[in-house]
Amino acid sequence: MSARLLPGKPVADAVFAELGPRIDALIAAGHTPGLGTILVGDDSASAGYIRMKQEKAASLGLTSPHIHLGADATQADVLAAIGDMNDAADVDAVLLQHPTPPQIDFDAALLALDPDKDVDGLHPVNMGRLALGMPGPVPCTPAGIEALLAHYEIPIAGREVCILGRGTTLGRPLALLLSQKRPTANAAVTVVHTGVPNWADYTRRAEVVIAAAGVPGILQPEHLTPGVTVIGGGVRYEGKRLLPDVDESCEEVAGAITPRVGGVGPTTIALLFRNAVEAAERRVG
Ligand SMILES: NC(=O)c1ccc[n+]([C@@H]2O[C@H](COP(=O)([O-])OP(=O)(O)OC[C@H]3O[C@@H](n4cnc5c(N)ncnc54)[C@H](OP(=O)(O)O)[C@@H]3O)[C@@H](O)[C@H]2O)c1
Repeated sequence: MSARLLPGKPVADAVFAELGPRIDALIAAGHTPGLGTILVGDDSASAGYIRMKQEKAASLGLTSPHIHLGADATQADVLAAIGDMNDAADVDAVLLQHPTPPQIDFDAALLALDPDKDVDGLHPVNMGRLALGMPGPVPCTPAGIEALLAHYEIPIAGREVCILGRGTTLGRPLALLLSQKRPTANAAVTVVHTGVPNWADYTRRAEVVIAAAGVPGILQPEHLTPGVTVIGGGVRYEGKRLLPDVDESCEEVAGAITPRVGGVGPTTIALLFRNAVEAAERRVG
């Protein structure tokens, strides 16, 4: 058996197509949405991510005011940059590029960000909103995975979804999101991690398995039931080489699976822009 592939690009394209008229409406109302970006240091991969997001912002009609601090920036410098972005009338959402240099306390910097401008949805206030089902920016990769499942009409309501990993950017917020009381969620979610040595007992009974561990090849065919839907969220980079959590042999067992490259990644970027546009809509009222 060879699994049906679930690429992220058509999902991202659909999200961008839906955002187009909303961006036009904001501009027509006199407010051009702005995605502010802050880069600390000179890491070339991080600079590349920022550049790609700026280019996408321009193509969508958003502005992208940018602050670049040197690799020797202090915590006070970063907090001042965040303060400037918080106060800027033309900035609706802010991206603080991760990772920051070692002298920067990223979590403390994140706390200084206006939660309503937190485009990644990772501020504790936004994690709280997510837990309580209140509106606010939702972490982009979890939101992208929900969008991907909905796009390919893979129902999860009432079905067993097992998430391998409870990290703060992926597994934990994803569990909160997919267990919400909504038609595209409503799943019976189980979260497994290093504290569950027999985690495969849980992935084997799930109808949807989402890998969110960041451990290359951790998910193997023997951890799956035939016909399962497999979503690969976790990845690790060795240099430029991308090493996914999901071993490629899982394609022989799964009914549907994200491709090793171009699966969840493109949806993450699309959902980041949806967060930015929604932040602008909230500010305009
Ligand atoms: N594709 C994208 O756009 C995108 C975006 C965001 C994140 N990611 C990826 O998603 C992954 C998770 O991100 P994160 O920030 O949430 O990571 P994290 O904080 O490092 O969490 C990893 C989780 O995996 C669990 N885990 C690790 N090794 C395990 C093992 N051998 N057996 C069982 N569980 C194990 C850990 O368990 P413990 O809690 O017990 O330690 C932890 O809960 C990373 O690979 C990251 O690169 C991808």
